[in-house]
Amino acid sequence: MATTRRPLIAGNWKMNLNHLQSIAFVQKLAWALKDKKFNGQEVEVGVFPPFTDLRSVQTLINADDLPLTLGAQDLSVHDEGAHTGDISGSFLSALECTYVLVGHSERRADHHEDDDTCAGKVQAALRNGLTPILCVGETTEDLEKFGASKVPVDQLSAVLSAIPQGSDIVVAYEPVWAIGSGQAATPDQAEDVCRALRETIRTLHGDDAAESTRILYGGSVKSTNIAGFMKRENIDGALVGGASLDVDEFVAIARFPQHVSVE
Ligand code: 13P
Repeated sequence: MATTRRPLIAGNWKMNLNHLQSIAFVQKLAWALKDKKFNGQEVEVGVFPPFTDLRSVQTLINADDLPLTLGAQDLSVHDEGAHTGDISGSFLSALECTYVLVGHSERRADHHEDDDTCAGKVQAALRNGLTPILCVGETTEDLEKFGASKVPVDQLSAVLSAIPQGSDIVVAYEPVWAIGSGQAATPDQAEDVCRALRETIRTLHGDDAAESTRILYGGSVKSTNIAGFMKRENIDGALVGGASLDVDEFVAIARFPQHVSVE
């Protein structure tokens, strides 16, 4: 982790917690962060609830000035119109979302989202003042066929080629085989791919973008393995699934500077 990039610990709740449960959860999370004297200047913590929870969570964050940023899990390529069931980036901006996930492997698999769709969604996010978190990662088959970096680098290149230099994005490297498996990549494996992703940004968008863009690792992140990732030069945070639904575990991950310094 380079000192100039503020680390981001992002909790992707996926399709868990309805709006009533989200209120109880965020209240507990806020209390636990306060209790543990969490330093929100040092580390940014984001929550990514389902669409139906966003208004409730936004209201809590605003009312109590909580040290949390808000993001959504997906958006439409369109801004308005006859697109039943889709959600516009402009609606997410109006709910004060800072971020939106794009191209999570579960969306690529469940909804056949390809690189063109992801590029369209990243453009829609940027057009609406949201920072997209572009998720990239290889499957087990990709890993066997092409090695670790090729597929994530190609996925990132496809999107970078479709947006102007200087666009503010976050990249999340999530090897599909590590998601929900309990088998995280090793810090060395993750660092190698994250370095390749940063070099791709350098080639396509220049040095400033390469140095300022945050690259997260995701896939079976826990409080017991976060420190190993965060010590690496090219990993600037984590996209956390299962462990983000456990308040104590998520707070322990957000407090990784404590683990890094005691190790
Ligand atoms: P897990 O942390 O449950 O492996 O999920 C990772 C993920 O998909 C976050 O987007």
